[in-house]
This record gives sequence, structure tokens and C-alpha cells, in this order.
Amino acid sequence: MEEDFPKRLEEAVLSIRSKSDRNPPVGLVLGSGFGSFVESVEGTDIPYQEIGGFPVPTVEGHAGFLRLGPSVAVVAGRFHHYEGWSMDDIVLPVFLLHALGVRTLIVTNAAGGINRGYSVGELVLIKDHINLIGVNPLRGPNPAGFGPRFPDMTESYSRKLREMAREVVAALEAGGRLQEGVYAAFAGPTYETPAEVRMAEVLGADLVGMSTVPDVIAARYLGMEVLGLSMVTNMAAGILDKPLSHKEVLETAAQAVPRLSVLLQGILSRLVRP
Ligand code: HPA
Repeated sequence: MEEDFPKRLEEAVLSIRSKSDRNPPVGLVLGSGFGSFVESVEGTDIPYQEIGGFPVPTVEGHAGFLRLGPSVAVVAGRFHHYEGWSMDDIVLPVFLLHALGVRTLIVTNAAGGINRGYSVGELVLIKDHINLIGVNPLRGPNPAGFGPRFPDMTESYSRKLREMAREVVAALEAGGRLQEGVYAAFAGPTYETPAEVRMAEVLGADLVGMSTVPDVIAARYLGMEVLGLSMVTNMAAGILDKPLSHKEVLETAAQAVPRLSVLLQGILSRLVRP
């Protein structure tokens, strides 16, 4: 992280605190194509433009917003490395959630399936990750008051939360199941080549994507418990004999949102149960 990061975070926290004193214990980062889930969560929206210290997008369009509810805060709009954002920009929302009181973080993403046992449209619990982005968001100064210089990443995706997610699926869908997999993050924005997908497979990856890993590194550094869910929006390049398209990724994500929503609702209600 850069020297000015703690100041940016402080500005972000002050912006939120001037509008709300909520301290939700659970945070949710929505992946591409899952934006509509935000409608299922009650809360006040704070557009990124109104959050001090937050990156200001240079191109037109909606940067995103934070929905702050009494028990859940939703990050609706991720910053990605492939868009040119710095690692500080990318992880600032996670640091902000932590500063607002979040201690359990749910991260979601769209991913390409490498594991041939997966099918398109399926949800997979992330059990571990491989950082192939080429940078680590914690590189640089380690200011006092956040976390250790060398954070442990042994159980980055909480075993307990994975177990709970499986219980929720079993309770909601008789015979329903969630497979588990290792998520490898590439920098993008190109989709991987078939050779890169084979490499990731040899390295032990079941899923490929372009996000999430920086968020989870930040979350673990800060001591948060993490649950990661990938939606297999396509089989990764070279697994099937057909090219990949962003349109298809978004269409599959949109189709699968209802099931994701039901599961996320079930998981959230377990997490915030009084
Ligand atoms: N690769 C990388 N990112 C992705 C993919 C993929 O195949 N599908 C959705 N996001």
C-alpha cells in the first residue's frame, strides 16, 4: 500500500460517518453480473462519488455504490486491476468495510471453469486461491494498526463458513450441492489462452477469474473471515472447443442470479441471526 492509503481510508470513513453510524457485521462484494442482488438487501446507498478518498472514474458510467444496511453492507461495483486501478484503489472498499465494523466478508465473482466436473451456471465455493495477477496489494509500507507484515493465508476461505454455506444449500434445495475449488486470478483483461488455462490447471486451479484475490488478501490481513462464491459463467478457454464472449458471461450470470440470490439470502440470514 502507498503512503497516502491510511489518509484515503480515513477520508472514506469520515464521508460515511457523516451520513450514517451503522456498523454492519457482514460485508458482501458483488461480482460482475450480480449487481441486481443488491435489491434484496435493505440499506442506504452511498455513491462512490460521495465517498472521500475513493477512486474517481475517468470514463462515463456508474462507478458503483455502497449499500449500508443495519447488518449487511454491500459493495456494488468492484475496481479491477485490468481497468488500470491501483491495488490501493481495488482494496479500499474492503478496508472501508472493515473500518465500518464488518468482520465477515462474502466475496462473489464470475469465473471460468477449469475443472471438468463443473457445469456452466453452477456455483462453486472457493476453498483457496492462487495469485497470478503479479502484484500483492500489501506491497509497500505496513502502517501500524492494520495487520501483520506477513499475514498467514493458510485458511483464507473459512472452513466454518464453507460448511455453513453447504448446510444452507442442503436445507434450501433437497439434494442441492456446492462443489469446492481453487480460484486462480489472472490480470486480464484478455481471457486466458488455452495454454494459460492448462498451466493454471497444472498449478491446481479449478476456476479462473480476474478479481477477488486482492480483496481476500486485504480481508485476511485485517483479520476478517471470508466466504468466497464463484459462479461458473463459462468453461475456461480451451476446455470446450469454442471462443469465450463477455456477452455470454453476463447472460449466464444473469440467468443464475436467482439461485445465487436465494443462497446468499440464506447465508446472510444465518450470519446475522440474532
Ligand atoms: N476467465 C477470466 N475471468 C472470467 C472468466 C474466464 O474464463 N469468466 C468470467 N470471468
